[in-house]
Amino acid sequence: MTRNPQLNRHGELIHLLSTEGLPRDILLHILDTAAQFVSVNDREVKKVPLLRGKSVFNLFFENSTRTRTTFEIAATRLSADVFNLDIARSSTAKGETLLDTIANLSAMAADIFVVRHSESGAPYLIAQHVAPHVHVINAGDGRHAHPTQGLLDMYTIRHYKGDFTRLSVAIVGDVLHSRVARSDIHALTTLGCPDVRVVGPRTLVPSDLAHLGVRVCHSLEEGIRDCDVVIALRLQNERMSGALLPSSQEFHQRFGLTPERLRWAKPDAIVMHPGPVNRGVEIDSSVVDGAQSVVLPQVTFGVAVRMAVMGIIAGNEA
Ligand code: CP
Repeated sequence: MTRNPQLNRHGELIHLLSTEGLPRDILLHILDTAAQFVSVNDREVKKVPLLRGKSVFNLFFENSTRTRTTFEIAATRLSADVFNLDIARSSTAKGETLLDTIANLSAMAADIFVVRHSESGAPYLIAQHVAPHVHVINAGDGRHAHPTQGLLDMYTIRHYKGDFTRLSVAIVGDVLHSRVARSDIHALTTLGCPDVRVVGPRTLVPSDLAHLGVRVCHSLEEGIRDCDVVIALRLQNERMSGALLPSSQEFHQRFGLTPERLRWAKPDAIVMHPGPVNRGVEIDSSVVDGAQSVVLPQVTFGVAVRMAVMGIIAGNEA
């Protein structure tokens, strides 16, 4: 059997590349550890010495507001030294390869690489080439995985709704291109969520996603009916190679989350979105800013979850 590249021979987390294949006890350990870091973020002095002397390199080959900033905050609060490589001004523009870039930054004594890349699998490739003491965290690769977003989504769901084994969760929108959807689905099914639905037009929610253990719905009413959690997704136009939709207006008419449609879900359902939000396309402003929205708490919890992930992997040896 092939060994999970995220785990050492003792089954401990050494890289975070995907939520797929991560055991339930590791997912719960990350969520429990994050709960402890939430209180650090509420203190006047928001620092713990866990990563003192360690160097964290943020390598974002794609744009980011939430993930990059919360990783920087998380590493700083763990007392690490943080370096953000400005990719646009780096020697990548002169043709330096990804692995040569990593080798050179490793020569500057990097301990953790946080990597976002448009190519699915780029963080895996890096994890195969770094020295045994160096850790790699996937901050989003192509349409494949965004594991820390998946974990902060799990943290948010557990915070507001408790036990996963009683919940119905609907993921609505452009599931086809969404690395967040895949990371959420793998985490939810591993944590025992019995009813995960993916909802959207046939071009963006193919029926073969059912093999992931989810229910595929092409009607918004059927998809969010009596749900506890509704996760809205952005149309990922940058990953669409052809016209998969007549228009964003038509998408909104059929699948946009409006206050009226949200009534199909349970009255106390929470509304989540990984951001960035396209208001008036996948979700109305009145829903994003409404009483059921937990979109900004998701961002807040992201700091504690990323602190937990870095703290855990840095404490484990290859
Ligand atoms: N959710 C998320 O990945 O947002 P950013 O692209 O701003 O990091």
